[in-house]
Amino acid sequence: MKKRVGIFVSGGGSNMRALVEDMDARHPAEPVVVVSNNSDAGGIAWARDAGLATVVVDHRPYGRDRSAFEGAISNALAPFELDMICLAGFMRVLTAGFVTPWRERMLNIHPSLLPKYRGLHTHARALEAGDAEHGCTVHLVTPELDEGPVLGQARVPLQADDTPEELAARVLVQEHRLYPAVLRRFASGDRRPLML
Ligand code: GAR
Repeated sequence: MKKRVGIFVSGGGSNMRALVEDMDARHPAEPVVVVSNNSDAGGIAWARDAGLATVVVDHRPYGRDRSAFEGAISNALAPFELDMICLAGFMRVLTAGFVTPWRERMLNIHPSLLPKYRGLHTHARALEAGDAEHGCTVHLVTPELDEGPVLGQARVPLQADDTPEELAARVLVQEHRLYPAVLRRFASGDRRPLML
């Protein structure tokens, strides 16, 4: 039985697209629904065009009540009977109340070589620090932001005159290689970290 995957996006959704496009007939998982907090997310339009189910729950009416927002997502997801969630550029922090029931079954991609640079502006921070290399990490989601066991990393060398935007673009290319490769092996039951 294929694992039923829900993919969460907030923006363009290029990582979501890379995951969906990799989930062919022989893949151990299948994309079932694409979820967003943002009805304008490019990823939602792409998913609709691709014939995938979509769920949009706008976070704004919930204000600071993150658990009510998360409850609305959980209710909307229940009929899809998901086995796994992949966060793919989902820019809302999820609390322990949502994360804990998905423990060991929710993945995230983060644009840094964790444990370096949790949170935002990772590319600028790597450049400011004068690091020799940067990259991206896929990890299991735990209630602590951008923590949790590492399932894979891809490295990108920094160049002398890099801007954060140029670096982000090179990291994104690696994200699109890493995330599908990690999901493929994780969904087949192999949790060994994949280092590209
Ligand atoms: C990606 O670089 C992803 O790693 C990052 O947002 C971008 C989303 O791009 N995620 C985070 O910063 C999570 N905190 P995409 O919508 O094209 O996949």
